[in-house]
Amino acid sequence: MKVLTIVNTDLVSEKDVEMLPDISIAGSKIKCGIIEIPKPTFNECEKENDHFVLVKVLAFSCNYRDKAIILKSALKMQGELNFQAAPFAFFGSDFVATVVAKGSLVENFEIGQRVIPNCAYPESPFPGVAAGVVTNEASKGWLRIHKSKLTAIPDNMDDAIAASFSIGGQTSTSMVRKVNIKKGERVLVLSGRSNTSMFIINNLLEKNVDTTVLTTSTWSKEEISLISPAKLVKVEKSFLKWKEHEDLGTFDVVFDPFFDLHLEKAVNSLKTYGRYITCGYKNQHNKFMEDTDKFNTNNLKSIILKVMINNMSIIGNCIGTSEDLEKALANYNPSSFIVPVDGCYSVEEGDRFVAQTYNNRRRLGKAVLVYS
Ligand SMILES: NC(=O)c1ccc[n+]([C@@H]2O[C@H](COP(=O)([O-])OP(=O)(O)OC[C@H]3O[C@@H](n4cnc5c(N)ncnc54)[C@H](OP(=O)(O)O)[C@@H]3O)[C@@H](O)[C@H]2O)c1
Repeated sequence: MKVLTIVNTDLVSEKDVEMLPDISIAGSKIKCGIIEIPKPTFNECEKENDHFVLVKVLAFSCNYRDKAIILKSALKMQGELNFQAAPFAFFGSDFVATVVAKGSLVENFEIGQRVIPNCAYPESPFPGVAAGVVTNEASKGWLRIHKSKLTAIPDNMDDAIAASFSIGGQTSTSMVRKVNIKKGERVLVLSGRSNTSMFIINNLLEKNVDTTVLTTSTWSKEEISLISPAKLVKVEKSFLKWKEHEDLGTFDVVFDPFFDLHLEKAVNSLKTYGRYITCGYKNQHNKFMEDTDKFNTNNLKSIILKVMINNMSIIGNCIGTSEDLEKALANYNPSSFIVPVDGCYSVEEGDRFVAQTYNNRRRLGKAVLVYS
């Protein structure tokens, strides 16, 4: 099959690969192209394949975490030791795939069934199998995966949604579970336009939670109506205090996908006994630093003082359990699910897919690369 890859042009001649226009991530050039990957051999009788399946990726998408992974792969190919880098690098951590072969002890899947990753973390889903993200190389097209790292999806979930679902669904369900929201509590969701926050908002609206959403981007009327009745408030990247928005009030719970952007301001907007929960940060690579970072002071002493005096909790969250993913899938209802697919791209449009994922602040939901 034809797949999207980052190309080490010092090792591979650009004439031997169908090159795509360069992409820029955080000021660095990423050289992408299309290569043919044949179906790998997978002996179903081989003991080492007993618990494994071979899947063919139908569609995949990238998460914020993949931005640093892509950049690191590209920079390694451009550095002085680029001859030590691989000729090709693959990327992408969410996908939907079809099972094309399976080992003799795989009973939970049938050939032809559609599956998505189960990124259960921190508990391992099977003795001896690593917990966490299933692959960082979804773009490779053919993947050999342990049966415990996949889950089947309902027929009413289309490929584009399925290719955007696992990490957002599993993480948001875990986060909402952990903060134990009680009736009548007020909740704030930060960086509302992020895919993770859209999944969190989807969860909160299902539970009729009083939700306020902060964003630094401009939303269209249609986009605002997606998250109704949640209240959307636009803030500047350079804002120092949410107090500048006096009418916001204080909150029982704050959900934050980027603690380096918001922690101190978030804690200052919590009520006594408030819970702050985060799953990530912005500067996952030093090239992501921006001038506006100076507005995010995050003074440890004042944060912990505030938390201690007011009996607050700061909660960390990384992904979620297998049950969280099952619950997210069971609750999936195409007519009420609010997280849109921003757009679908063919492999020939791979450069536009990556650029839309990381360089367009108008994106809402995932850009999805569709292989078939
Ligand atoms: N640990 C885990 O298990 C886990 C799982 C999922 C996600 N995460 C983390 O959650 C975060 C979000 O991931 P995602 O894939 O959902 O992100 P995403 O969709 O790429 O987020 C895009 C949004 O983030 C905000 N944003 C991005 N860059 C910004 C900047 N420089 N300044 C201000 N706001 C910025 C903007 O929100 P507004 O336009 O609304 O301001 C933007 O629309 C990341 O830190 C990721 O690593 C962690």
